[in-house]
Amino acid sequence: MLRFTQVVKRFEPGTPPVLDGLDAEVPLKGLTFVIGKSGSGKSVLCRLAVGLLKPDEGTVTLDGERVDELPERSLRPLRARVPYLVQGPALIDWVSVVENVMLAAKGAKAARRAAALDALKRVGLFELADRFPPQLGPGVKKRAAIARALVLEPTYLLLDEPTTGLDREAAGQVNETLLELKRQGLGAMIVSHDHRAMNSMADRVLEVSAGKAKWTNRSSS
Ligand SMILES: Nc1ncnc2c1ncn2[C@@H]1O[C@H](COP(=O)(O)OP(=O)(O)O)[C@@H](O)[C@H]1O
Ligand SMILES: [Mg+2]
Repeated sequence: MLRFTQVVKRFEPGTPPVLDGLDAEVPLKGLTFVIGKSGSGKSVLCRLAVGLLKPDEGTVTLDGERVDELPERSLRPLRARVPYLVQGPALIDWVSVVENVMLAAKGAKAARRAAALDALKRVGLFELADRFPPQLGPGVKKRAAIARALVLEPTYLLLDEPTTGLDREAAGQVNETLLELKRQGLGAMIVSHDHRAMNSMADRVLEVSAGKAKWTNRSSS
């Protein structure tokens, strides 16, 4: 469980807080979609979840552990367990797909390569391991970025707008990959504006609005 309790987060003194007493308990199973207007605080919520930001008030716990109180050295293993994939491009263009994924792995080169190929298999990209990112479409690149998170052997993923800006086909590929990972037992929290995907994929939907969060089954906005 990822639990936010009475979380307040403010950036500019004298302005209203972005998050204003937000409460939410997110099960670390299945696919949780997070929706809300641009600027509502969805990315802030993700960053709080992995200790990249600290709340001004309130608590953030992950499997009972106080994320907001963890020192940096403990946050590193936490972010391996629950990687946060930021929005936008994430691959290095001048190294191959498999080498991009290997960069996240630990150990000797052969072990890192084996782990990377394994992760690429899980997202259906084994055949494209030796390609370079500029040769690939945006959906493939995003799946490779997901593979790079998988070498950390995560228990859960946080994905910030993984399909925003992608065409329908690329977005479909990424969504299919996320469903496949769910079948493999890996859950994710997915910030998304993709209502079609949400309606067909989401196990639950959390809406961030006016500094608070609520569960919703809303299917359009
Ligand atoms: N590091 C920061 N410094 C100042 N303001 C920030 C920072 N991060 C986010 N904000 C502000 O917090 C609000 C929510 O941002 P964000 O979580 O990125 O929104 P979104 O829901 O679109 O992901 C926005 O008004 C944004 O400008
Ligand atoms: Mg955002």
